Amino acid sequence: MSATIIDGKAIAQSLRGKIAAATADLKTRHGLVPGLAVVLAGNDPASEVYVRSKSKAVVEAGMQSFDHKLPRDVTQAELMALVARLNADKNVHGILVQLPLPKQIDSTAVLNAIDPAKDVDGFHPVNVGRLATGLPALAPCTPLGSVRLAKSVHSSLSGMDAVVIGRSNIVGKPLVQLLLAENATVTIAHSKTKNLADVCRRADLLFAAVGRPEMVRGNWIKPGATVIDVGINRVPGDAGKTKLVGDVAFTEAKDVAGAITPVPGGVGPMTIACVILNTLRAACAGAGVPEPDV
Ligand code: GUN
Repeated sequence: MSATIIDGKAIAQSLRGKIAAATADLKTRHGLVPGLAVVLAGNDPASEVYVRSKSKAVVEAGMQSFDHKLPRDVTQAELMALVARLNADKNVHGILVQLPLPKQIDSTAVLNAIDPAKDVDGFHPVNVGRLATGLPALAPCTPLGSVRLAKSVHSSLSGMDAVVIGRSNIVGKPLVQLLLAENATVTIAHSKTKNLADVCRRADLLFAAVGRPEMVRGNWIKPGATVIDVGINRVPGDAGKTKLVGDVAFTEAKDVAGAITPVPGGVGPMTIACVILNTLRAACAGAGVPEPDV
């Protein structure tokens, strides 16, 4: 049996349509236009592509986009001064500082300087703590998008056995918190986990976020499980070109899983949609307007 392919692109497009409608409503009723500032330091090609996609999505949703492109040799003081200006800017509701930052920069200090109310990445310790304690929080976009994809297959995740491979602060750990909030039974696995394949075979929901191309094999997957592949790895392809693959060996996995996300076209588009969703939420919270249900 071949798995249902979860069309992240279509699901993200539908979410972006709902966000655009809610944004138009916010403008009509409250005169409020959400704004996202994206800060990019240096010229890492992958980051440039990512930042362009975010700015395009922001504009398409009817929001304001403020792009700040800084040279690779930007100083800590310059970056901190920019964050302080954006924190104080009434037209900026969300701030996203693209990672990785150049090596002379203390990234933690920069991220911690962002006003938690504008922290659309959900990386600030205040948002991390709020998410972990079940308080309303801005949560990281890739985990938010991943859970939405799982919920496109199962309207309730309550009581399901979820396994998350990867314990990063950006994906694995916040994903665990979001799954707990959905009442899933969560196991977090990582590079030191014993019998990883056996652990994965217990999962009704398997999330792979390790950054290792096609590490999860078909025989690690419980028949009928839902597989959400968070990995985006560039590997050598045909004719001297490169191609993108996930952390899951897709061809093997799709014959075992019940539903699976492709790479590209799975989690990636959802991350972008959730950046604009968080910008909308931040704008509503800042203005004391109830958040639209999207
Ligand atoms: N670089 C790779 N992923 C991310 C992300 O989710 N947010 C930011 N700010 N930078 C990234």
